Amino acid sequence: MYVCNCNGIRCKEVDEAIRAGARKPKAVHAHHGCEVQCGRCLPEITDRIRKARSEDAPCAGALTLRTA
Ligand code: FES
Repeated sequence: MYVCNCNGIRCKEVDEAIRAGARKPKAVHAHHGCEVQCGRCLPEITDRIRKARSEDAPCAGALTLRTA
């Protein structure tokens, strides 16, 4: 499922960016080499970041933040 239609970023790719350390929606876009355009995806990405922090990600497959 696409989260960001402007840039073709899917749910699992948002999670990948979060696991890699993205803590802001712009960082998720930057992780995939693009920038925010219309901004409609920002609330969902923010929500996914928030949920990942509470280790309660709803996307298929477990999302576990690694903390060193
Ligand atoms: S849907 Fe993500 S910038 Fe437009």
